[in-house]
Amino acid sequence: MFKFKHEALETNTGLLLVATMMAISVGGLVEIAPLFLIEDTMEKVEGVRPYTPLEQMGRDIYIREGCYTCHSQMVRPFRDEQLRYGHYSLAAESKYDHPFQWGSKRTGPDLARLGGKYSNEWHVQHLIAPRSVVPESVMPNYPWLMENRLNYADIGQRMRALRAVGVPYSINQEEYERNVKDFGPEMAAQFHIPNARESLVAQVRAGNYDGDPSYVSEMDALVAYLQVLGTMVDFSQIKPEELVKFR
Ligand code: HEC
Repeated sequence: MFKFKHEALETNTGLLLVATMMAISVGGLVEIAPLFLIEDTMEKVEGVRPYTPLEQMGRDIYIREGCYTCHSQMVRPFRDEQLRYGHYSLAAESKYDHPFQWGSKRTGPDLARLGGKYSNEWHVQHLIAPRSVVPESVMPNYPWLMENRLNYADIGQRMRALRAVGVPYSINQEEYERNVKDFGPEMAAQFHIPNARESLVAQVRAGNYDGDPSYVSEMDALVAYLQVLGTMVDFSQIKPEELVKFR
């Protein structure tokens, strides 16, 4: 019976066309429909915010240097991962990441909960010469991060590009005020594109990430980025027992 129907289908162009279209539509719907519901699917999470101009520059350096080829940024909801890294990653935590850095390779450890784990000094030393702090490390040296001045002339354009794909950086008063409501006045000022360069320099002065206040280095930006990873959401209320209960 089945064989007969299949033959009829394959020998009738019109019928085959209709059946093919139906099959493709179902496949298409399954892939496309969830995208329209993504706002509802992603839980709202307190604390998640876009990156400051300096952190965003650091993130771009992270991508340029290919750190993602050895490091993931996603803690999976498994007992062992949570014991090692902390709370599993939430979808909302990477909602302002374009492109996201979840990664699929862990030659080095996951970095999703890295922020605050080490001092700025440790990061600088580790990035210049990983083996000077972790003798068995196979991570490459990145000495130029300290030597290179950060070229942030185009930070405004970078933020505009991100704004075009939905990151709420502001270009006018109205958007700025919305950010004040959503993220507070300090952060809203950082997210205001016309002031991006001043904000970036101010954050370097205040944070002194690379230990050398005389100029803005690529190291400043990368360390600022590394130190914010996984720190936006406050997981301190969640006890370790509750974490592992998940699986
Ligand atoms: C060839 C693979 C490789 C690349 C590329 C690489 N790393 Fe690593 N990374 C490692 C390994 C292995 C470790 C573990 C040993 C160590 O701490 O050095 C590590 C450790 C780290 C740690 C410490 C994590 C922790 O929780 O202890 C940080 C931070 C880090 N890497 C950042 C970076 C950054 C930033 C880049 C890009 C500039 C980068 N890595 C590129 C392999 C790599």
